[in-house]
Amino acid sequence: MFIDTHCHLHDAKLPDTDLVVNSYLRDGVDTVINMGCCSATSIGGRDLAEKYPSVYFATGCHPSDVNTFDQKEFDIIKSLCSHPKCVAVGEIGLDYYWQPFDKEKQKKAFISQIELAKSEKLPICIHSRDATGDMLSILKDNKDKLTYGAVMHCFSGSVETAKELLKLGLYISFAGPLTFKNARSVLDVAKIVPLDKCLTETDSPFLAPHPLRGTVNEPKNVAITTAFLAKLRGIELTEFASILSKNAQTLFYKLKAK
Ligand code: NI
Repeated sequence: MFIDTHCHLHDAKLPDTDLVVNSYLRDGVDTVINMGCCSATSIGGRDLAEKYPSVYFATGCHPSDVNTFDQKEFDIIKSLCSHPKCVAVGEIGLDYYWQPFDKEKQKKAFISQIELAKSEKLPICIHSRDATGDMLSILKDNKDKLTYGAVMHCFSGSVETAKELLKLGLYISFAGPLTFKNARSVLDVAKIVPLDKCLTETDSPFLAPHPLRGTVNEPKNVAITTAFLAKLRGIELTEFASILSKNAQTLFYKLKAK
């Protein structure tokens, strides 16, 4: 019923993967997409996808990992794109929050992976933190390379930024922070994103939704954020979950129809 479009199953904070997978399957999550942050976690994602039918993966270098991003890393990330369960290039983007960071290196890695996604015919999963201006200008400059679509993961920006992203054809993905007691602008965004551009995710093991905030987040909790968004939009949960699953299957077209 539910799809967690962004999680990190290999993260050491999560318990044994068998337990995590069994737990989300029991709670109605039928598909998860494990993100790559470097070549090692992208390979790890592939291995999990080969082991568990419900796991798919993305391959990519996270902006906070660009210091080790070289030709060898790029070649490994690229080699995973043609795997039948590799549904996206991600997560890629810009992060000007975690110090120290090298803006130029991040931009270069981001653009090279946008180009990779186009040549491999895959959508991209974007991470953007404290980098809205540069993010928008890179996406606008590379609009013609977003042929296979893109999603802004864990969106937390303003309505204006969301509108710019929607103009570029992006999907907007909502995570646990939507449910936080102090959520403000993301609630306004969640009310205006067209239904066919909405996705939900956990970013597990991070950002557990209310009332689990502060605990280790698991993919099963995508049900909480999805239910919150369904209520906000005034749509019955089963119907809403099926709209979101269809959206995920449209963007990540290599997901098998459930
Ligand atoms: Ni992530």
